[in-house]
Amino acid sequence: MLSTIPSLAADLSQIRLEIRALQGQLVTWRRQLHQKPELAFSECLTAELIAQNLKKMEIDFMSEIAQTGIVATIRSAYPGPVLAIRADMDALPIQEENKVDYRSQHDGKMHACGHDGHIAIALGTAYYLSQHRDTFCGTVKMIFQPAEEGPGGAKPMIEAGVLYNPDVDAIIGLHLWNNLPLGTVGVRNGALMAAVETFRVLIQGKGGHGAMPHQTVDSIVVGSQIVNALQTIVARNINPIDSAVVTVGKFHAGSANNVIADTALLEGTVRYFNPVYENYFKQRFKSIIEGICQGTGATYELDYEQLYPPVINDAQMAELVRSVAVEVVETPAGIVPECQTMGGEDMSFFLQKVPGCYFFLGSANSEKGLAYPHHHPRFDFDETALAMGVEIFVRCVEKFCV
Ligand code: NI
Repeated sequence: MLSTIPSLAADLSQIRLEIRALQGQLVTWRRQLHQKPELAFSECLTAELIAQNLKKMEIDFMSEIAQTGIVATIRSAYPGPVLAIRADMDALPIQEENKVDYRSQHDGKMHACGHDGHIAIALGTAYYLSQHRDTFCGTVKMIFQPAEEGPGGAKPMIEAGVLYNPDVDAIIGLHLWNNLPLGTVGVRNGALMAAVETFRVLIQGKGGHGAMPHQTVDSIVVGSQIVNALQTIVARNINPIDSAVVTVGKFHAGSANNVIADTALLEGTVRYFNPVYENYFKQRFKSIIEGICQGTGATYELDYEQLYPPVINDAQMAELVRSVAVEVVETPAGIVPECQTMGGEDMSFFLQKVPGCYFFLGSANSEKGLAYPHHHPRFDFDETALAMGVEIFVRCVEKFCV
């Protein structure tokens, strides 16, 4: 439909040169954000930095969406589809242990997942596109989203209408990824990240003397049976072709060696890729726990929460990202399809509404000591990845409507 517009996509080498020239600015933004990490729905300084820079770029935006979220709209010189780019904004409650001069100035808070880099990449993309409105068509919506680490900002932003007016046709987003080395991109069709569900089970037994178990209902024995039985969901109920995890991460009970515990508390998480299991685990948990408690004379309270659905990429959008990323990393070996993780992401809510692709941008560099895992107090990444992220986004935008 756009064949009548001459030379819509700019010369690729020229794009790279211009984006590489932004590297200093990208690092400055990233470090400014790194020094002022803020937790979920409190990203006020973060939103202010984004807003100030969008104003300077003369880009229209709306703020205070789902409390601290921002949506910027960049219109090209030509009509066409609407592509959204999503960046998350929040930090973690972690005390930073890096000694770098841009380390966190907020006690007990840290950008330990790279979301500071995501914002810098999104700002850099917005700047480049605003300066090159004749190299793409349609509209780009930059979605700066709060609270990815929980309780989740994507859902309230969607409820606030960020995917409408103008209506978003597709969405892309990236995560800087220290599980992959710099110079690689993890991209795949279908499920990339898992659904995240959490549970809390309080078992009420009947406490008593450690030498007189017949007078009691031992909540530790009941809890142990429940822990074991829950493992059979993955081992015996889920199709072995599918992947799933049940982890009991917390088991608190008892106070003394000769006392039978009155109550036991279990907490944990469930992960799976295949959306057919939505609601399945919750039901199995209920019947397993109920059955064991009935058989032992205990009672229970179960709180089961479904936090994020799985991150499912659209095949066509994944192909768009893959075709662009291979030009950026300059070698097919740099594209890593085996990049699934049981980690979760609320990008999934956007992907449930519109086709899209979420991908990983390799950011680890062990030679520079930048290979600590995400959420580690010494997490940091190779900032060379910032310009690569901008280049992938820009090229996706330019190619999306061609
Ligand atoms: Ni993250």
